[in-house]
Amino acid sequence: MEFSVSEKYYIKTFGCQMNVYDSSRIADMLKKEGYEETLKQNEADIVLFNTCHIREKAAEKLFSDLGRAHLIQLEREETGKKTIIGVVGCVVQAEDEQIVKRAPFVDFAVGPLMYHTIPDILRRVKKDKKHQCEIKTDFPAISKFDYLPENTAKGACSFLAIQEGCNNFCTYCVVPYTRGAEYSRPIKEVLEEARRLVKTGTLEINLLGQNVNSYHGEDENGQERDLAYLLHKIAEIDGLKRIRYTTSYPADMSDNLIACHKDIEILMPYLHLPVQSGSDRILKAMNRRHNSSDYLRAVEKLKIANPMIGMSSDFIVGFPGETDEDFQKTLDIVNEVKYIQAFSFKYSRRAGTPAAVMDNQVEEKVKKERLDILQTLLFDYQTKFNQNCIGKVMPVLLEQKGRHKGQLIGRTPYMQNLHVETKSDNMNKIINVEVVESTTNSLSGKEISNG
Ligand code: 5AD
Ligand code: SF4
Repeated sequence: MEFSVSEKYYIKTFGCQMNVYDSSRIADMLKKEGYEETLKQNEADIVLFNTCHIREKAAEKLFSDLGRAHLIQLEREETGKKTIIGVVGCVVQAEDEQIVKRAPFVDFAVGPLMYHTIPDILRRVKKDKKHQCEIKTDFPAISKFDYLPENTAKGACSFLAIQEGCNNFCTYCVVPYTRGAEYSRPIKEVLEEARRLVKTGTLEINLLGQNVNSYHGEDENGQERDLAYLLHKIAEIDGLKRIRYTTSYPADMSDNLIACHKDIEILMPYLHLPVQSGSDRILKAMNRRHNSSDYLRAVEKLKIANPMIGMSSDFIVGFPGETDEDFQKTLDIVNEVKYIQAFSFKYSRRAGTPAAVMDNQVEEKVKKERLDILQTLLFDYQTKFNQNCIGKVMPVLLEQKGRHKGQLIGRTPYMQNLHVETKSDNMNKIINVEVVESTTNSLSGKEISNG
């Protein structure tokens, strides 16, 4: 079977922002190898799925997408075209055997710490006469970042991974098993990537890590530096207008880091700080290194550092042993913090984690009821916050076209989507907009002339 002249790849990404970043770095690698991107799966010679394992549904979605990819593979085969199918990311780390069993047509499967090996794997798979799935799930001693080509992401908002993995072992979570132990990239490497991004048009950098605020990268003298140090260094880059970092762990919100929210003007007044539950009993069973008062104290300090700060969080309802009283404490913390945005999930049993084998699992029906109640409350606060924005002027970073002609969509400092009529030249720029309308999920407004 022959390949077409310019081979094309297609990547579908599931899950978190880290996966979005990983996919863009995989794309950098493939482009460097001479492959071209396509957004049409049926045109692709290489189809990649970058997977998420955090909750059940994410893995199930992968298997249904793989089924569809197999059909396309067979159709293309009839016209003499070969399609290589690869799976990368967290599902591979946790369920490589399942992939081979349930989707035997997959050509290769690569865990999140090994994707720098993809070009070599592709070379081997192409030569391979008899199909066999190549699997790479090691936790290598040398970071994959040492092998990756430059980050060539274009656009005004860029992700930059500075830390990967997690040592916290929350009892419900697969991340320490799929992404391995914590690793922080050296300061110099991060700054070089940040400068390159700004040079090619990035105005906003979002620093990523599973536990980003425990960052402890080495500087050029071998001294360990914290996230606060790195934020100050990044803020010095000429032309950069906005910095964010995500996701943070409450117990690692140091005073130094909190002070950045006062001292660094371009650090956005929005922080995703997952609390998971408001009940100390449940937080303990989750093996979190904080209780609800530690958390509230951190929020209070952040609000003192920057009174304009808006908080966001993740919540899990129906963790094993959660009673109505525990759940009420989660509602209490929401009422206390008044989150401007949040993500909430029903607890999902993940094989290999301690909570999965706890014998006090909560009934599905109860989980659903609690999630409904929590989400109604969260949406209420989010809607109110958005309503309060009406009449205010906000700087908006425009990053995509709207549905209507002449309309662009951008992000406010608080991560809200905002629609505005403006000239298309303003794409990838920051303009001032007066908010006119709001819904739970977005805002719209009119451009304020800067003159
Ligand atoms: N069940 C439900 N939610 C989970 N999360 C992580 N693991 C699970 C699980 N087993 C949620 C947490 C985390 C977010 C990324 O996903 O809230 O912060
Ligand atoms: Fe998972 Fe907990 Fe680590 Fe977050 S801090 S990645 S929830 S183990």
